[in-house]
Amino acid sequence: MSIDRAHSAGEAAEDAEERGRLDRVRPIPRISIQAFCESEGVAGPIEKAGRDRRMVKAHLKVHLGGIRAAVEHFGSAPTPNLVILESRQPPEELVAELESLAEVCDPGSRVVVIGHYNDVQLYRDLIKRGISEYLVAPISISDVMGVIGALFVAEDSEPLGRTVAFVGAKGGVGSSTLAHNVSWSIANLFKSDVVLADLDLPFGTANINFDQDPAQGIAEAIFSADRMDDVLLDRLLARCADHLSLLAAPSVLDRTYDFTPDAFQSLIETAQRGAPAVVLDVPHAWSDWTKNVLAQADQIVLTATPDLANLRNAKNLVDTLKKLRPNDAPPHLVLNQIQIPKRPEISASEFCEPLGLTPVAEIVFDPAAFGNAANSGRMIAETDQKHPAIEAFHHVAHVLTGRGEVKKPKRPGLLGRLRLK
Ligand SMILES: Nc1ncnc2c1ncn2[C@@H]1O[C@H](COP(=O)(O)OP(=O)(O)OP(=O)(O)O)[C@@H](O)[C@H]1O
Ligand SMILES: [Mg+2]
Repeated sequence: MSIDRAHSAGEAAEDAEERGRLDRVRPIPRISIQAFCESEGVAGPIEKAGRDRRMVKAHLKVHLGGIRAAVEHFGSAPTPNLVILESRQPPEELVAELESLAEVCDPGSRVVVIGHYNDVQLYRDLIKRGISEYLVAPISISDVMGVIGALFVAEDSEPLGRTVAFVGAKGGVGSSTLAHNVSWSIANLFKSDVVLADLDLPFGTANINFDQDPAQGIAEAIFSADRMDDVLLDRLLARCADHLSLLAAPSVLDRTYDFTPDAFQSLIETAQRGAPAVVLDVPHAWSDWTKNVLAQADQIVLTATPDLANLRNAKNLVDTLKKLRPNDAPPHLVLNQIQIPKRPEISASEFCEPLGLTPVAEIVFDPAAFGNAANSGRMIAETDQKHPAIEAFHHVAHVLTGRGEVKKPKRPGLLGRLRLK
């Protein structure tokens, strides 16, 4: 292996570890944070943490100038919920500097110190003086977010479910079909609750695919966002199967839907408090609200069929999501509706190479099986128990829930294709 490749492999491993640590941090509440740094090496990760999706509610300001600048600043300004201070001073001087801060710092504010001395005695001394945590530089984004999470995400707060947004690279590629079948897999394989929300209000198909016709659903949830709570949400959910509830779209055109960028936020947060998995079936559209839902989701599944338009759109989505979610893994790519007879197709390797992704599943075009399931309002696993796509749905369910990777389903070969005839 060349040095460059070895280096990038090392970086990738670090990236994965850093992402794993970040993954354990749950959204930070609406708190105010001010950081006073002395070096770019410390200010950088704090600023990057401030731009992370899990920190959208928090207000973070980073200043330079260290403890001295903080003392000056808080002499005339109220202290925030959290003050982060960097100091390059040796232990004794650091403690002396902190003494001067005590006079201007509100006792209700938490203080985290980032120092350059790895000294247990100093650590103990600081904790005794009421400092909430002492970190030693260099620090990473996950160090910053981990410490904020530990201080402000209450330990006894209810566990939050994970959100997965499913989106298609183009209309009609089967993103909703995948979202519904994978939701069913998660509920069935792990006997763990899933809330599936159909975000395609005018045209959503979850109601058809699960043979449900609830009188109320996601429209009521969105238009009652100001009084959204678990009781209201419970009332709007339609039970589809054991452990699987649906927030159905009205799928009528009696009005138009121009949502505000945060229209879905309180609904998603409420659903997360009630179920370990919240699946968001996002329509193929690009607006402030779809962009926000994708930016905020814990994970994204991008479905594409292997043609040029899908490739271009997938590339644009992957690149844009990278900018919106710099500290997250890229979306999971599913290639769907492959091997349509006589349709020229870009090979999986050619399709995936420019995206820098390996598909998590490849699903053959099988109009009979998918059509039957859709027409009878059931999932493929209920209508055709030996269908190869089921293994793909189960695999995606395993990957999304982190429950150990099942063997990656093989790319369907000749026998698989003959079976379709
Ligand atoms: N592998 C497949 N083989 C055959 N048909 C499929 C396959 N996957 C999905 N379909 C069918 O393709 C159609 C479109 O699927 P679906 O509604 O899930 O796509 P979508 O990406 O959500 O579309 P939209 O852009 O409308 O949201 C449906 O009729 C579905 O049954
Ligand atoms: Mg859809």
